[in-house]
Amino acid sequence: MRVCVVGSGGREHALASVLGRTAEVVVSPGNPGIPGSVGTPAEEVEADLFVVGPEDRLVDGLADRLRAAGRLVLGPGADGARLEGSKAFLKEVLVEAGVPTARYGSFSEVEPALAMLRSLPGPWVVKTDGLAAGKGVLVTTSLIDAEDDVRAKLAGEAFGDAGRTVVVEEFLAGPELSVFALCDGERAEAIGCARDHKRVGDGDTGPNTGGMGAFSPVPGVDDALVERVMDESVRPTLAALGARGIDYRGFLYCGLVLTDGGPKVLEHNVRFGDPEAQVVLPRVEGDLAAMLAEAAVGELASRPVFSPDACVTVVCASEGYPLSPRVGDAIEGLDEARGLPGVDVFCAGVGEGDGGRLVTAGGRVLAVTGRGPTLADARAAAYAAVERVRWPGMHHRTDIAAGML
Ligand code: AMP
Ligand code: GLY
Repeated sequence: MRVCVVGSGGREHALASVLGRTAEVVVSPGNPGIPGSVGTPAEEVEADLFVVGPEDRLVDGLADRLRAAGRLVLGPGADGARLEGSKAFLKEVLVEAGVPTARYGSFSEVEPALAMLRSLPGPWVVKTDGLAAGKGVLVTTSLIDAEDDVRAKLAGEAFGDAGRTVVVEEFLAGPELSVFALCDGERAEAIGCARDHKRVGDGDTGPNTGGMGAFSPVPGVDDALVERVMDESVRPTLAALGARGIDYRGFLYCGLVLTDGGPKVLEHNVRFGDPEAQVVLPRVEGDLAAMLAEAAVGELASRPVFSPDACVTVVCASEGYPLSPRVGDAIEGLDEARGLPGVDVFCAGVGEGDGGRLVTAGGRVLAVTGRGPTLADARAAAYAAVERVRWPGMHHRTDIAAGML
């Protein structure tokens, strides 16, 4: 089977690498650090199966266009992708499906939004309705800051049209968990779980990022808990989408908080997590390509089998990330890092400089994954490899998975 992975980041590199165990893989457009990158648009690639990585392409209807051209695609159409493209739509579906989630209100006027904020005990959570590259969420212990944020978002100052509707919701306290599911329109199977680290600095300090590292499995989270999430949150969501006539075939990334009252959904994303893919997918055993193809045709029959190994990934970021990443720095030590046992290095913001050298081309540049029999082994492997890669201004967190050992 020939599979086309659509996207250009570390998640797509991980997808390509695991799919490549059993299939021929091309990546569109990919990047100079990902083998099999073709640089051409997905519409011009010939493949038996297309796996779409990034949410913006899904929200934009790429899966619909490929299907209309007769292609087999894993990834929801624009209708299903609204789950991630609109927080207001997400909450509507969750409530309809009876999924445990934070109480919320969705507003396009300032005063009712402020009234709801003032009725909540805090901390306060204000979200932009549309896609905002992970930057549309404010969680704050200051009611005044939350009120200002509502005004700014509704005035369209912060995110333009994406912010013209805001969602105000109850704060959920507890550790976070991400559960990944593979859906075929009717059935859904868990394909792993992970926890990521969203803040840029050690000890969860500094601004939010797309994710600075992740690990899988998650200590304290057993198969029974994952199946509970599948039964309470993922399968009812899929059924509610089906009842609306939405045939959801793709990954569903369920972001939860493990509250005292049980797991509650923060969000559903319509794709794999990045960098969670870099720790979850390497643990999937068997023929991932065949399984994704089953889901894409609507006949998911296989159940994923997981390696007992643990994986830890550490994101190496460019100078200035996340505020203003500098690009064009030469990346050194990649081969050395890759030569270490139990190590995979996935290329994200990577470009080609003079003489074909790899250079930084984005904020999150590499995801360095270590694998081993325990989380401690995996973590040691990842950090040994991180020590080998360098460029001016490179930074990374030193505490990925540290609190879990
Ligand atoms: P989101 O973009 O919806 O994933 O939100 C980004 C992050 O904000 C989440 O990973 C949580 O850490 C935090 N967050 C969002 N909503 C809530 C909530 N209702 N309660 C607590 N934390 C939240
Ligand atoms: N790592 C978070 C995300 O992929 O949204």
